[in-house]
Amino acid sequence: MNFSEFMTITAKTVDAALDRYLPPETADPKVIHASMRYSVFAGGKRIRPALTLAAAKAVGGDQARALPAACAIELIHTYSLIHDDLPAMDNDDMRRGKPTNHKVFGEDIAILAGDALFTHALHLLVQVGRDTGISPSVLLTVVEEVTKACGSSGLIGGQMMDLMAEGKSLVEEDLVRIHSAKTGALFRVAVRAGAMLGGGSDEDLAVLTAYAENFGLAFQITDDILDVTGDQAVIGKLVGSDARNRKTTYATLFGIPEARRKAEQACSEALTALDRLGKEADFLRHAVQFVALREY
Ligand code: IPE
Ligand code: IPE
Ligand code: MG
Ligand code: MG
Ligand code: MG
Repeated sequence: MNFSEFMTITAKTVDAALDRYLPPETADPKVIHASMRYSVFAGGKRIRPALTLAAAKAVGGDQARALPAACAIELIHTYSLIHDDLPAMDNDDMRRGKPTNHKVFGEDIAILAGDALFTHALHLLVQVGRDTGISPSVLLTVVEEVTKACGSSGLIGGQMMDLMAEGKSLVEEDLVRIHSAKTGALFRVAVRAGAMLGGGSDEDLAVLTAYAENFGLAFQITDDILDVTGDQAVIGKLVGSDARNRKTTYATLFGIPEARRKAEQACSEALTALDRLGKEADFLRHAVQFVALREY
């Protein structure tokens, strides 16, 4: 199985599980469930849950045990996108090839849908995780790490710094700090959760953490590049959002060729981190190639 087949199968598995785990649109209040489902099932690469499952496999674990965490992380990611697109934040009209949540449902419902996806993610992680037979102590550690990654020293802290930096000139160190918080923290916990649920050793966790941190940086650098060079029909969002919001990105700070070189450098460090792991880590390796070459 190559990586694109792995991604397709993962997306199907994750989508089917999310459909089971999310309240149906027929449940009251119907509009909030319609709004949550609209963004979750709008498309999306499902790269974070793919990494969670691939990390469980890389340490010789059972992917099924990592599925609740993979789904929870995708819900959290989707919540972060709904809020990121709001007029008060990046003010974007297109996401995953469709009008953004607030364009369809209004800002009030979009805010609530994001909040509900986040809380539902934690609920399903605990409830389904327990029913899957994951030990309470492992589950507690995963919840601890996921909540830490999403908070004001992780994703929210990164979004805060990103907003505060609009219109300001930054140096590379600032940008690394913003990117590793707003984007890297969720990639890091996606991989670590998979490894912990797969029964990985402390040594496995250390190398996979180094992998994930470099992967997350490469992912956000390529996102910055695609905001300039991407094809709207392929990336599913409008290009030029960062310029409109006067953000400093890898593209503006270094220019496209040097930004690409920096993404390649982070990709190569991600691969080096995996040196100690065997063939079971191949999907994690292929994921790096995907990011290095991605057009969406
Ligand atoms: C977009 O993430 C937001 C970033 C952190 C760069 P993705 O590019 O993974 O978005 P989807 O899930 O495929 O829509
Ligand atoms: C988004 O970064 C990071 C989070 C949503 C946490 P961007 O603002 O660059 O993501 P896109 O380009 O809108 O997908
Ligand atoms: Mg943003
Ligand atoms: Mg944005
Ligand atoms: Mg972007």
